[in-house]
Amino acid sequence: MTAIEKSLTPHFLSSRVQALELTPDGVNLLDQTALPGKVQYVLIQTAQQMAQAIETMLVRGAPAIGIAGAYGMILSARQGLDLQLTLDDLRKQIHQDAERLAQTRPTAVNLFWALNAMRTIVDSHFDSPAALLNALTEKARQIHQEDIEACQKIGEYGATLIPKSAGILTHCNAGALATGGYGTALGVVRSAFAKDPSIHVFADETRPRLQGARLTTWELVEDGIPVTLVTDNMSGSLMQHHKVDVAIVGADRITANGDTANKIGTYNLALIAYAHKVPFYVAAPLSTIDLSMDNGSLIPIETRQNEEISTINGELICADEVDYYNPAFDVTPAQYITGIITEKGIALPPYRESLAKLFKT
Ligand code: MRU
Repeated sequence: MTAIEKSLTPHFLSSRVQALELTPDGVNLLDQTALPGKVQYVLIQTAQQMAQAIETMLVRGAPAIGIAGAYGMILSARQGLDLQLTLDDLRKQIHQDAERLAQTRPTAVNLFWALNAMRTIVDSHFDSPAALLNALTEKARQIHQEDIEACQKIGEYGATLIPKSAGILTHCNAGALATGGYGTALGVVRSAFAKDPSIHVFADETRPRLQGARLTTWELVEDGIPVTLVTDNMSGSLMQHHKVDVAIVGADRITANGDTANKIGTYNLALIAYAHKVPFYVAAPLSTIDLSMDNGSLIPIETRQNEEISTINGELICADEVDYYNPAFDVTPAQYITGIITEKGIALPPYRESLAKLFKT
């Protein structure tokens, strides 16, 4: 069997956390660089501001970046309407802004998937700039809503894999903050917790940006889900001491053969889980699966500024002259992945067949 389809009883624990919201004035982004110290929303009003917000990680997480990109194209259209551009000039401007948005973060395929869905709308027939703006707004809202629904489905499917009173290890933040809402890996946690409140999460801190420490612990504490913070280098010890029954992570891009790009350190975790025979699951919507890419060696991996690893709270933590290497993601080969949990079911190896099949159902 290459994919599991089960009849499921929905178990939703609605999350109180919302990463982004489209309003008549712009897009409200929950500033993820300020969490958990400050819970503050930033109003984004232009496509250029949105591009910067994605680059600087005010908004982050593959599905959330995709939605932010789609909303960025609405902001571009609103700007064009304010300038009273003709329909042709408006189309040109939105395409230029889409190009800028596409230059922000290269690894998460959800961004390109969402921008392409919006580009198709831009190129459709309309009688007026206002009609184009309306259609873009409707499409972006649909992308956002469908992502929430996909996450809830992922949660339902994933919860069937969680043993009673399980210890669940996760890396980075694949939660409501990283998606339209509910989360992928944390969507599974939410659904599992709604059925069995005795589960327990271990959150990797996730150097260098600390998404696990700053975001995952905050998000789970907000929802009353038991969570223990560990540093990235503790997962071996945790598994050796049988504290982890299952590991679940999100994904930024999954290629046709099942290789998975996710936050740097995911590969280490997968290897340790493999050595300890702990099941290692990836949870992601179909918008994260890139069947056009054959395998993980082809995935563009973002490298980020040296300061992310050379400083803590602005203080240098290493010798001035040292060299740096700061890839934001790594690729876990499919052979270490027990299953890929999607909104259409759980794909099992061999992934070339099971992933392709998900797109046909
Ligand atoms: O650099 P980030 O914080 O955008 O990286 C996020 C991750 O790696 C997540 O695990 C991934 O995007 C999945 S989010 C549902």
